[in-house]
Amino acid sequence: MSNETADREEWSSRIGFILAAAGSAIGLGNIWRFPYLAGEGGGGAFVLIYLLCVVLIGMPYLFGELSLGRNSQRNPVGAIKSITGGGSLWILVGGFCVLAGFVILSYYSVVAGWAVGYAVKDIIAPTMGFQEFAASPGLVIALLGVFLLLTFLVVVGGIEEGIERWAKILLPILFVLIFLVIIRAVTLEGAMKGLKFYLVPDFSEITFGLVVSALGQAFFTLSLGMGAMITYGSYLPKREDIAISGGYVVIFNTLIALMAGFMIFPAIFAMGADPETGPALVFVVLPKVFAQMPLGGLVSVLFFLLLSIAALTSSISLLEVVVSYFVDEKQWSRQKSVWIIGSIVFLMAIPSALSQGASGAFSNMSYLFGESGLFGQNNFLGILDYLIGSAGLAIGAFFLSIFIGWVWGADYAAEELVEGSSVMTQGLVSVWTFMMRYVIPVVVFGIVMGYVFGYL
Ligand code: PHE
Repeated sequence: MSNETADREEWSSRIGFILAAAGSAIGLGNIWRFPYLAGEGGGGAFVLIYLLCVVLIGMPYLFGELSLGRNSQRNPVGAIKSITGGGSLWILVGGFCVLAGFVILSYYSVVAGWAVGYAVKDIIAPTMGFQEFAASPGLVIALLGVFLLLTFLVVVGGIEEGIERWAKILLPILFVLIFLVIIRAVTLEGAMKGLKFYLVPDFSEITFGLVVSALGQAFFTLSLGMGAMITYGSYLPKREDIAISGGYVVIFNTLIALMAGFMIFPAIFAMGADPETGPALVFVVLPKVFAQMPLGGLVSVLFFLLLSIAALTSSISLLEVVVSYFVDEKQWSRQKSVWIIGSIVFLMAIPSALSQGASGAFSNMSYLFGESGLFGQNNFLGILDYLIGSAGLAIGAFFLSIFIGWVWGADYAAEELVEGSSVMTQGLVSVWTFMMRYVIPVVVFGIVMGYVFGYL
């Protein structure tokens, strides 16, 4: 027996849901991952393909996950069970979602811990460069612990009092702050070159590998492919308009990513940094910009504080996927789920925390995967991000799109999508069902192949 649906919590208002779901979407993906991937992908070319992926694939697919969640009022495993009944192999896909929540949360918290550390860097490690900082074992593990603890405290608070309340307060502040940093960045000398790199696509850079990476980023940044949006959709009341709310989530999320680019690319070029720096990019470049700003010290503290907060509104959604599974399916209490799962995530995160120079065994795993690494990734964190955060999300999205489009059936899914919606006209419904059945699975399958054959 599952918990009674009637007891289940709901979002208290439309804006509460939008901010919570946008909070899930907006995070390290926008401010840390998007700029470094765009930097590696030639700038404008990546941005263009990324935007196409978000609008043409990510958004319709998001509507599918939200509809499945609201229809079943369940976590990803429960949602699939509610349609197939128990004993179907499809439940494995739900199981994958829960597992992906675990794994992504583990390494995500490490990077979020860096952000926390940078917010208080002047106090805890004023003289360290990024390399040294990320390679200090005690420091990074402690920071990771602090970040996870914050995540646990919000999720224990539940839907309305925890997740929704914090998202409402924190996201608007983030927005204003990024705006201030942009103003500084674009007025730096040499900023124009960065803007050009960021905005003018060089079409010769568009390769299959770039498309793979851009679509992977579209899924990551919208929290898709691992059931976070199924779970958040499960707390949506029937009167809510999935297309409108989901549309807002996409708009806010895209806006923040684009703004992050406006903040970082002018700065990279003005500071003579290398856009292809990889995952260290924002931690290396932004502090240099802050150093050149009036009140830069204060702006830096605020910025990394807000980055930590943006990461927090995402990490809670990762944890919520796992917690809702144990609450719905195993009848654990919310408290018990959070603390037990949380402890395991903390332990799982340690190898990632040590993988940026602190421990040789996790930092360079060529003894397992050879000199060129596993799909080009040599450290533990990079490998998890590739296997689960990139390829895994594409695989998850592939199976979930088949599930929604064919097993549940796009027509039934569309009924859910239309309920409470003022914008889903007959025409839009036909477009959406066509996308869900054919376009999304086919495109995503191509991308999965790209990952499997290491096409990046
Ligand atoms: N979307 C989040 C970000 O951009 C990360 C995330 C991925 C959260 C998958 C939940 C699920 O930072």
